[in-house]
Amino acid sequence: MKTSPIYRRPPPGLGSAAVGAEEETLVLDALRRGELFRYYGNDPERPPPFAAQLENEAKAWIGTDYALAVSSGTAALETALAAISIGPGDEVIVPAWSWLSCVTAVVRLGALPVLAEIDDSLCLNPAEIDRLTTSRTRAVLVVHFQGVAADMDPIIKAAHRRGLFVVEDCAEAPGVFYRGRAVGTWSDVAIYSFQHNKAMTAGEGGLLVTRDLRTYERAVRMSDLGQYRPYHASVTPPQEPAFSGAQFRMSELTAAVALAQLRKVDAIRAHCRMIQDRVRQGIGELPGVTWRTIPDPQGDFGFEIYFYLDDPKVVPAFRTALDEREVHCQQRTGTYPQYRREYLLTGRAHHPAVSPFRDIKPWPAVGYRAEDFPVTEDLTQRFIALPIGWRYTTEDADHIAESVRAVHRELFT
Ligand SMILES: Cc1ncc(COP(=O)(O)O)c(C=O)c1O
Repeated sequence: MKTSPIYRRPPPGLGSAAVGAEEETLVLDALRRGELFRYYGNDPERPPPFAAQLENEAKAWIGTDYALAVSSGTAALETALAAISIGPGDEVIVPAWSWLSCVTAVVRLGALPVLAEIDDSLCLNPAEIDRLTTSRTRAVLVVHFQGVAADMDPIIKAAHRRGLFVVEDCAEAPGVFYRGRAVGTWSDVAIYSFQHNKAMTAGEGGLLVTRDLRTYERAVRMSDLGQYRPYHASVTPPQEPAFSGAQFRMSELTAAVALAQLRKVDAIRAHCRMIQDRVRQGIGELPGVTWRTIPDPQGDFGFEIYFYLDDPKVVPAFRTALDEREVHCQQRTGTYPQYRREYLLTGRAHHPAVSPFRDIKPWPAVGYRAEDFPVTEDLTQRFIALPIGWRYTTEDADHIAESVRAVHRELFT
């Protein structure tokens, strides 16, 4: 049944919907300083470069020791893996349900991504670490999917028992906590993305954080052509040999926007949580419907509500009916199972000799096919996502809740 919408609901933007005078002021300031490259602005008589200011405020806000601004979340992932010396012959456990870069970054470093099942939190199932670890496994990449922290206690325990590095992908989770501590502080190295759809954005951009000074130094070298400039030496003196790195530096214009956005994340989170609580209370409990498991509900960002329908056959009709009521229920991420991505179906890298899949035949092999992931398949075919945005009002929250109840009534009675 098609109903005419009562009013047009705002699109569910987060940081992008909060861009305003603060970003404008800092960007104009960057332009007026005339130094758009961070390393030319290190005159002690002048204000610190925006990139350094962003790093300093981000590490205080997250509660970690070192932060490095880079050009994207993907660049941050490649930098993080390089910083902990991941390379050919190594295996990295990656959730099968994750963003493209979670696999491409591993492949670009010549290591083998090993796909793991998720659980009903839509994050890595901690039990997969024991199942998938081999003598070649070096690291576990944990993705805090869409504002919800993965269950870090069992993940850290299993990884440490096996002597593995833990890398946290917080691209979708700035401002998210687990057991009272920010995500990004649980692992050896963590990354953030400032791409347009994120809770804080500069259009593009990324950040890497760590508590380990050698990881920081290697990350700086990876992101700046192997160099370690005087600014970084003033943060912590060099101890590591140079190596050939990439060029993933952040510009001052990006840093100015990211800095203004960083200062807004707490407010965006508080708003999303308020709207989310109202939607959840408004929906209540419905037969045939189960909420996504949130390992730590206190730490959740609240920008996307997921629930599962028992019957996957009802999902398309449920989504269509919600969309007709102006409830944007398509998930706000391009995440879908890695085993369906083109690059995994071909198993290719940019050159055949550097593909970690080159000797695995026939391809796609066991562990890279849909039938190897019954849990991920089941969960991801049964969920409905209700995105929330910075511009959402309590009226929007009530409209979403009423719509879900109405569609449920229509389809289940
Ligand atoms: C989980 C996750 N990891 C990594 C990235 C990569 O970030 P970027 O788009 O900034 O390269 C994204 C975002 O797009 C993401 O959602």
